Amino acid sequence: MYPQDKIWEKMIKEHSIAGHPVRYFQEVGSTNDIARKSAFTGAEKGTVIIADYQKKGRGRLGRSWISPPGSGLYFSLILSPALAPADLPKITLAAGVALCRAAKSYLSNPVLKWPNDFLLKGKKAAGILTETFFLQESGYLVILGMGINVNTPRHDFPPDIAGKITNIQETCGKPLARGELLEIILNQMDNLLAQAEQFGFSDILKEWRSYDAGRGKYLTWLTTEGGVIRGVSQGIDDNGLLWIRDEQGKLHEVVSGDIRYPI
Ligand code: BTN
Repeated sequence: MYPQDKIWEKMIKEHSIAGHPVRYFQEVGSTNDIARKSAFTGAEKGTVIIADYQKKGRGRLGRSWISPPGSGLYFSLILSPALAPADLPKITLAAGVALCRAAKSYLSNPVLKWPNDFLLKGKKAAGILTETFFLQESGYLVILGMGINVNTPRHDFPPDIAGKITNIQETCGKPLARGELLEIILNQMDNLLAQAEQFGFSDILKEWRSYDAGRGKYLTWLTTEGGVIRGVSQGIDDNGLLWIRDEQGKLHEVVSGDIRYPI
């Protein structure tokens, strides 16, 4: 634990941070799985599941999220937002905005790669995994998971990914208090969700565009059906979907799949 992490210690002791109930674990499989089970067994909406270490952290597209102990931030927030089903995928984008706003307390130029990557100096420092469930009695349940390499040393990652990732500490030059960062993110996420519920996502998507690392870049889209499409990113539309213009000038709407480009 980092010495300046007073908020982290307080959160563990008081089971609360930024007005959210907290369930803290030293070690779990995946906080998203604990959050889902907790929600199904009556955990209050707004509860945040936090772990110091995840043995089976999950990423998008079935990938794993390496979650070494003592230095990263791994949490899942249980949400039941008053939003139309079509708006639920935009929560991932709102979470990216919350993360960028929080990061700006420590550094400049955080950027996002559609749909869920947070990058610093061209390398991935955090990822977002949002999972949605429909409950007959109470409507939609959203589990918003975030994994952040806060102070995580590069040698804690397997060699094949160590070159592609970074942590926030490397960019801002000093270790960060995980509790303080988490508190800022949760406050920003609360603001953004309240804004979305009241006014919609229009301004949030506008802000997301200001962090978009890919717009105007030549990229490769690996579709979920195994196709490969190359073209220039046109950025995101008002539904939060990415558009690509291919070499023949044809426009493609990207709903899912993997986007790759040099940053
Ligand atoms: C990605 O980049 O593909 C998303 C990574 C999301 C990782 C976080 S860590 C907390 C939560 N629990 C998980 O198992 N995954 C998310």
